[in-house]
Amino acid sequence: MAESDAQTKIQLDERDIPTHWYNLVPDLPHPPAPVLHPGTGQPVGPADLAPLFPMALIGQEVSQEKTIEIPDEVRDIYRLWRPTPVFRARRLEKALDTTAHIYYKYEGVSPAGSHKPNTAVAQAYYNKAEGIRRLTTETGAGQWGSALAFACALFKLECTVYMVSASYHQKPYRRSMIQLYGAEVFPSPSPRTQSGQKVLAGDPNSPGSLGIAISEAVEDAATHDDAHYSLGSVLNHVLLHQSVIGQEALKQMDAAGEYPDVVIGCVGGGSNFAGLAFPFVGEKLRQGKRTRIIAVEPEACPTLTKGTYAYDFGDTVGLTPLVKMHTLGHSFVPPAIHAGGLRYHGAAPLLSQLVDEGTVEAVAYPQNGVFDAAIQFARTEGIVPAPESAHAIRATIDEAMRAREAGERRVILFNLSGHGHFDMGAYDAYLAGALQDYAYPSEAILRALTELPQVAVTA
Ligand SMILES: Cc1ncc(COP(=O)(O)O)c(C=O)c1O
Repeated sequence: MAESDAQTKIQLDERDIPTHWYNLVPDLPHPPAPVLHPGTGQPVGPADLAPLFPMALIGQEVSQEKTIEIPDEVRDIYRLWRPTPVFRARRLEKALDTTAHIYYKYEGVSPAGSHKPNTAVAQAYYNKAEGIRRLTTETGAGQWGSALAFACALFKLECTVYMVSASYHQKPYRRSMIQLYGAEVFPSPSPRTQSGQKVLAGDPNSPGSLGIAISEAVEDAATHDDAHYSLGSVLNHVLLHQSVIGQEALKQMDAAGEYPDVVIGCVGGGSNFAGLAFPFVGEKLRQGKRTRIIAVEPEACPTLTKGTYAYDFGDTVGLTPLVKMHTLGHSFVPPAIHAGGLRYHGAAPLLSQLVDEGTVEAVAYPQNGVFDAAIQFARTEGIVPAPESAHAIRATIDEAMRAREAGERRVILFNLSGHGHFDMGAYDAYLAGALQDYAYPSEAILRALTELPQVAVTA
C-alpha cells in the first residue's frame, strides 16, 4: 500500500486555522426571512436585541459579508485544539465491507469535548469587549454549558447555566465540569425565574427542554443590566463561528485527494451541522457541485422531518423574537431521550431554509439504532461518540451500506461533533437493553402547532 493510501489522520498546521469565518448568506439564492418582534410583528432592529447581545454579534447576525475576520484573541485560543483532525474510518469501512470511503471530522478534541467552544470563545470575547460582567445560557446535554463555562473562565466572565432537568440528572459529571470551570448551574425549569415558576406550576415534574431553559436564561439576562444572554446554536452568528470546521475540512479532503459525495451531520439546533456543511453548501450553490448534504435528527424530536416551516418563538415561554424555522411548536416538550442536545423544538433558520428549498436532505432515527451505530463505531474506530454525534454515524453507516449495494465508491464525510465520555449512563442503559424507542408523538406535536404565533409577514 502506498503511504498516501494508508493515511488515517489528515492533520493541518496551526497556520491553517481559518483567519475568517464563512458566511453562507450572500451565497443563498433567496435572502433569509426577517426576524420579527414578538410584540409588533415587525422586523427587529439592533436596539431590540441590544439587551441580550453585544453589537458586534448583532452585526454578524444580519451580515451580508461573505467573510468576517476572526479576532486575533479568538484565533489564539482556537490554537488550544484547532485545527481538528479528519480521520479516514478505515476500520469501520472494513467492518462494513463497504466500497464507500468514510471520513470524519473530529471536534471532540476541544477542551470541553465538542464543537461548542468554537462559538463559546467568540461570544465570550465580544461580550467582554463590550464590558459585560456575566453571561447566562441554557444547556441540553451539558456540552454547551461546559463550553461556555470554559470560555468565560478564559475571559474572566461570570456564567450562569440553566441545564435541562432531564440532563442535569442523567449527566452529573457535565454539571461538575461546568462548576469546575467556575460557572453556576441550575436544573431547568427552576424556581429562580418567572418562566421556570410558570412551567413548574403546570408540571412540577417537568423534565425540562431546551426551549424552557432558553426562556429562563433570556429572562435572567433581560432583567440584569450587567448580564447578556448567549445561545449555543440556531442563530446565524453561532453557525458563522462554527464555519471553521468545514473550512478546515475542505482543505483536509483536498489533502486526501478526495471530495465528498455526501456530507452528514446531526442536528439539534443546527450548529455543528452548519459548521461542517455550509462551506460545502456554498460550493454546491456557487459551483454547482452535486454533493448530497444530509441532516440527521432523532425520531423523538423530528423538527426537520415532521415540523412545520413557520414563524415561531425560539423559547417555550415566548420571550424571544420570532424566527422562521422548522418547528414542532415552542411548547413541544420532547421525551427525555439520551441525545439531550438534540431535544430542541426548532432548527436554525438558515438550515430550515436550505431544507425547505431542497438543498439539504433530512432524515430521522430512533435512539436504539443510533446506539447500535455508536457501539459499532467505538469497537472499530475506538472513539466513544456523544449520543448526538452518533446520529450522524447511523446515517453514515446506512449510506455506506447503500454504496456497497450499488457497488459505488461513495466518499462520505461526517461530523463527529463530540465525544461521549460523560454519557456512560446512556451507554449503560443501552447495554442493559433499557433504552426505549419513542414513537413519533404526533398528537403532542399537533397540539403544540396550534399554539404557533400568528404573523402578518409571510416572507
Ligand atoms: C456533541 C453534540 N453534538 C451536537 C449537538 C447538537 O447541537 P447543534 O445542532 O447546535 O450542533 C450537541 C448539543 O448539545 C452536542 O453536545
